[in-house]
Amino acid sequence: MSKKPYYITTPIYYPSGNPHIGHCYTTVACDSIARYRRMQGYDVMFLTGTDEHGQKIEQKAAEKGVTPKQYVDEIVEHFKKLWSYMNISYDRYIRTTDDYHVKSVQAIFKALYDKGYIYKGEYKGKYCTPCESFWTESQLDEDGKCPECHRDVVEAKEEAYFFKMSPFAERIEKLLLETDYLQPKTRATELVNNFIKPGLEDLCVSRTSFKWGIPVPFDDKHIIYVWVDALSNYITALGYANDAYNDYDKFWPADVHMVAKDIMRFHAIIWPAILMALDLPLPKHLAVHGWITFNGQKMSKSIGNVVDPMVLGERYSPDAIRYHILREMALGADSSFSNEIMINRINSDLANDLGNLVSRTVAMVEKYFGGTLPADREDSPADCELKKLASTLRDRYEAEMDKLQLQNGLEEIFKVIDRANKYIDENAAWKLAKEEGKEARLATVLYNLLETVRICTVLLTPFIPASCDKIFDQIGACEGCRTWDSAARWGKLKNTVTVHKGEALFPRLDAEKALAELNAMQE
Ligand code: ME8
Repeated sequence: MSKKPYYITTPIYYPSGNPHIGHCYTTVACDSIARYRRMQGYDVMFLTGTDEHGQKIEQKAAEKGVTPKQYVDEIVEHFKKLWSYMNISYDRYIRTTDDYHVKSVQAIFKALYDKGYIYKGEYKGKYCTPCESFWTESQLDEDGKCPECHRDVVEAKEEAYFFKMSPFAERIEKLLLETDYLQPKTRATELVNNFIKPGLEDLCVSRTSFKWGIPVPFDDKHIIYVWVDALSNYITALGYANDAYNDYDKFWPADVHMVAKDIMRFHAIIWPAILMALDLPLPKHLAVHGWITFNGQKMSKSIGNVVDPMVLGERYSPDAIRYHILREMALGADSSFSNEIMINRINSDLANDLGNLVSRTVAMVEKYFGGTLPADREDSPADCELKKLASTLRDRYEAEMDKLQLQNGLEEIFKVIDRANKYIDENAAWKLAKEEGKEARLATVLYNLLETVRICTVLLTPFIPASCDKIFDQIGACEGCRTWDSAARWGKLKNTVTVHKGEALFPRLDAEKALAELNAMQE
C-alpha cells in the first residue's frame, strides 16, 4: 500500500542576517511535526528555504560592497549549518534565486496576467522599506507609520502592475470564517474586519525602484513583488511550472503552512487569492504561532535583541534547546524567552525528571541484575495505574499532536514520566533488593519502568531525536520497540532485556553559574 503524502512548510526566511531563535522555533516545530508524521508512516515532504530577493537584500549587499548573490550565499550557509546542527530533517531546501523557481514565478505571473487578474496601473502610496510593503493612508498606524513594524514609511509613486483581489473577497472571507484553514481561528475575525470588510484592495505586484528580483517576463523594467515571488515557493518547490521536480500532484495541497503572526496576512489573504486566480486547490491549514519575545519585545535582527540558537546549543545541546522552545510556546500565543526559565526547564524536566528516570532505572538493572533482567515476574495491583497510563499515552499524545499542540503533547509525556518517578519511590526497589525472595518482584518493577521509558521515548523522538536514540540504546530497545505501533503496546521489550549504561543525557546545570555566564555573554 502506498504511503499517504504529508506536506509541511516553514516560511522561507530572509537571509538578511543570521538565523535566530525565532526562526528556530518555526523550523523546530515543523521538524517535530514532520518526524511525527514520518513515524506514523506518512510519506512526508518537509520544505524550508530562503527568500533571497528584494530591496532590503540589495541595500545590505551594497553596504557590504558585495553582489546580492554573494551576500545571500554566505548567509544561506549559516541557515543550512544551523539546521543541520539542530537536526532539522527537511526534505527540500528552496532558494528563490534557484533558476527553476525564477522561471516558475515568471510563468505564474504571466498566467495571472493572461487570465486578466494582473493589469498595469500607477501606484501612489506609502512604502515601508524594511517590510517591503505598500500601504494606503488608512492602513497606517495612528502615528502614520507602518502598521506592521511601526517604522517610518516613505511616499512612493511608480508605474506598476496590480493584482485584482476583489473577485476573491467573498471566498476568502468564507475560508477564514467558515473553515478550519486558519489555526487558531480566533485570528480570523481580526483579519476579516481589518482587510476584507473595508474592501479588499488590489495589490501592487511589481516594482521599478530596484533591480534585485525576478523580472516581469513581458516587461523587464519591472521586478515581481517579492511576496508573489516568495509565496509561490510552496508550489514551485514541488515542480509547479517547472521540470526540476515532479511532486506537485503528489503533495499539493499542503497539509500545513506554519508561520508567525507577522506574516499571517500574506498567507491568509494574498496566497489564497493567488491560488484561486490560478484555479489551484488551497492549502489545508495555516498554523499561526506567536512571537518569541525578549523582555516583551519581538526578537528581531533590526532591534538587535536576538538570541543565537547555536551559542545555546553548544552550551546545553541542540535537543535541550529544541525541547525548551517547544515546551514554552503554546501555538498561537507569544512566549517570552528568558535564560532563567530555559536553565530551570533543562534542570527540572530534562535532567531531573527524564534524565534521572532513565539513569536510575538503568543503574538499578545493572546493580541488582548485572544488566540483564531475569525472566520471572511477580505482578502487583499497584502496577496497574502506571501500566495503564503508559499504554494509553499514545492516544492522548496523538490527539494533541494532530491539533499541532506540541506543547500539550510534551506535557502528556511528562505526566507519565512524573508518575514513573513516583513509582520508583513507592516501590522502593533498593528495599526489595535487600529482601529475601523478592527478586521476581524487583525485576517486575524495573521492567515496568523500562517499558514506561520506552513508550515515552518513542513519543519524544520527534522532539529530541538524538537523545532518544541514546535512551533506546541504554534501555536495550530493539528496532521493533522504537516504532509508532509499539508505543501503543505494553510489553514490547524482551522479558530478559539487557541494558547498557551510558553517559548522563542532560547533565544538571549549576543554575546560578549558568545564568551568570549567559547574562555576561548577552551584555
Ligand atoms: O517574513 N518569534 O521572512 P523572515 C517567532 N521571507 N517566530 C519568528 C520570530 C520571532 N521573534 N522571528 C522570526 C519573512 N520568526 C518572509 C517569509 S514566506 C513565503 C516568506 C519566524 O525571515 C516566523 O516563522 O522575516 C516568521 O513568520 C518568520 O520567521 C519570518 O521570517
